[in-house]
Amino acid sequence: MRTIAVIGAGQMGTGIAQTVAANGMAVMLADIDLARAEAGKANVEKALVKLMGRGKIEASEAEALLARITPVADYTPFAEADLIIEAATEREEIKNAIFDAAGKVLHADSILSSNTSSIPITRMANHSPDPARFIGLHFFNPVPVMGLIEVIPGLATAQATTDRVTAFARGLGKEVVLSQDEPGFVVNRILLPMINEAVFLLGQGTAGIEDIDKGCRLGLNHPMGPLQLADFVGLDTCLDIINVLYRTTRDSKYRPAPLLVKYVEAGWLGRKSGRGFYDYTGESPVPTR
Ligand code: 3HC
Repeated sequence: MRTIAVIGAGQMGTGIAQTVAANGMAVMLADIDLARAEAGKANVEKALVKLMGRGKIEASEAEALLARITPVADYTPFAEADLIIEAATEREEIKNAIFDAAGKVLHADSILSSNTSSIPITRMANHSPDPARFIGLHFFNPVPVMGLIEVIPGLATAQATTDRVTAFARGLGKEVVLSQDEPGFVVNRILLPMINEAVFLLGQGTAGIEDIDKGCRLGLNHPMGPLQLADFVGLDTCLDIINVLYRTTRDSKYRPAPLLVKYVEAGWLGRKSGRGFYDYTGESPVPTR
């Protein structure tokens, strides 16, 4: 694959664009307008400046990487793309509208994919022009650092599509886990109940934020505790995913923790809003309870 299109210039979309460009491919980056796509590219530039400061990348390499990312105003140029990766907000109606629009320009040999965290691939494939060339391609945050990509074929996905995206993912230097199209796939099916349970523990006063996180960092050797990780992922995204698990399985073990719902209702969404379980407005994060 030589040219990749990424839809969504947020945390995941820009991480995907950076990683793809770092591996020598051309990337077209789109969002709801050109300004947002350009802002996404500017965020990649900021990440590269940090890496240069730490001696992890040469200036010439960073410049070449950035030159391979082209922000675009609409999907028309995506007719040139070998693979389109949707990495927009985790709402099915938003994603479906994107697939309807991107499907109109999709080249006859190209693949349409979704970076969804948990929404069924088989269902969303109905919004693509050819479900045999539609697949889940689930990256992890921060994309340039994390070593895994989940590949999720839907019921109608052709084996050739699975093989091509698996080769693409390995070409990015990532390991691949193949998952059936079941709620939450593999990793989020395990991660989200853990995060949700941590919020139940906090809500019922079993332990405070710092002790819950310390317990998992030191007791399980996780790099971040579950509440810190929830803030990192975004509490709205966590709630969206646990709700998908709850609604699709109808199993009460996935009911969202009431405190998680309250935080999202308060607009306390984690790092991106400046406050979640920790306050991020100062030098270093401070637990809020
Ligand atoms: N591009 C390239 N490299 C980057 C980078 C970027 N944008 N940002 C950071 N790095 C590199 C750094 O240079 C550093 O490299 P080094 O180890 O060679 O020096 C390394 O990544 C670690 O960065 P930092 O030193 O800044 O930070 P930490 O050591 O504190 O690690 C962390 C940060 C990697 C985020 C670590 O805390 C971690 O692994 N946390 C857990 C992350 C996780 O679980 N992610 C998955 C979330 S779930 C998900 O995404 C699925 C979704 O569907 C919900």
